[in-house]
Amino acid sequence: MTYIQPDGASSEVEASRGDSVMSAAIAAGVPGIVADCRGGLTCATCHVFVDEEWLERVGEKEPEEEEMLELTAVPATECSRLSCQIVLVDELDGLVVTVPEEQE
Ligand code: FES
Repeated sequence: MTYIQPDGASSEVEASRGDSVMSAAIAAGVPGIVADCRGGLTCATCHVFVDEEWLERVGEKEPEEEEMLELTAVPATECSRLSCQIVLVDELDGLVVTVPEEQE
């Protein structure tokens, strides 16, 4: 999958099925994803913007994620997700997300 930085630089990362978008980024050292709570849905520092063409395949947010997205450092948009809540499945092979300017 691909992580795009705010300046346009991108990192392609090999991730495994079952990884989250957050854990794959942390394992690969992708900058811009802090993930203070390591997936506990309590920090909102794993915010990403999902590329529009992938939004439908990524699926719906749970209400808890929706609430946490109100606490992101950079305001959330309709493309915003918490990367710890996106689990990689075959349909998401090639997923593209952009990390925000800041997380905290
Ligand atoms: S890692 Fe904390 S909410 Fe995703």
